[in-house]
Amino acid sequence: MQQPITVKDKQFTLSISSDTIQNSIQNLANKINEDYQGKEIFFIGVLNGVFMFAADLLKRINIPCTISFTKVASYEGTQSTGKIKQLIGLPENLEGKNIVILEDIVDTGFTMKSILNQLKQQNPADIKIATLLFKPDSFKENYKVDYRAIEIPNAFIVGYGLDYDGFGRNLPDIYTVVK
Ligand code: IMP
Repeated sequence: MQQPITVKDKQFTLSISSDTIQNSIQNLANKINEDYQGKEIFFIGVLNGVFMFAADLLKRINIPCTISFTKVASYEGTQSTGKIKQLIGLPENLEGKNIVILEDIVDTGFTMKSILNQLKQQNPADIKIATLLFKPDSFKENYKVDYRAIEIPNAFIVGYGLDYDGFGRNLPDIYTVVK
């Protein structure tokens, strides 16, 4: 049994190892490579949390692609505020492109909904969503989350890009808060 770790003022225990994360990303990359044969992908990563996932996924994509980033914030501490602040806007000239939005985690789904609404205004050819983590019991929206690498229960996590009040993003594994 692993010892709990402390991030800021809370304790967390190991829940998803780095090996499991990397294997899940490989499986996801295999599906995307298969589905987009003969096409180009325009990835849009949602900062901050996506930086590790985006880097590890793109190294495994073997078809022509470009990547750009947008930045939004909705969490304070361990709770979603439900209000989305857009800190870096979406790229322009997305008309006719095959877009894959990359997220670290889809929780309630509010953040992604606001990004989807804005993207649609630019008339891309297609929009798909790829998330490393998905919390099915927390999801409150009705759009399709096309690619989900790992499904997790409804508890707060840190590591592999995800933070608790800005801390813990550097951890290579994912940890769950101790209640
Ligand atoms: P949503 O809008 O509720 O789907 O939340 C999406 C965003 O909230 C993600 O991009 C994360 O930045 C953050 N988030 C959601 N769940 C967690 C968590 O368990 N740990 C850390 N951040 C989270």
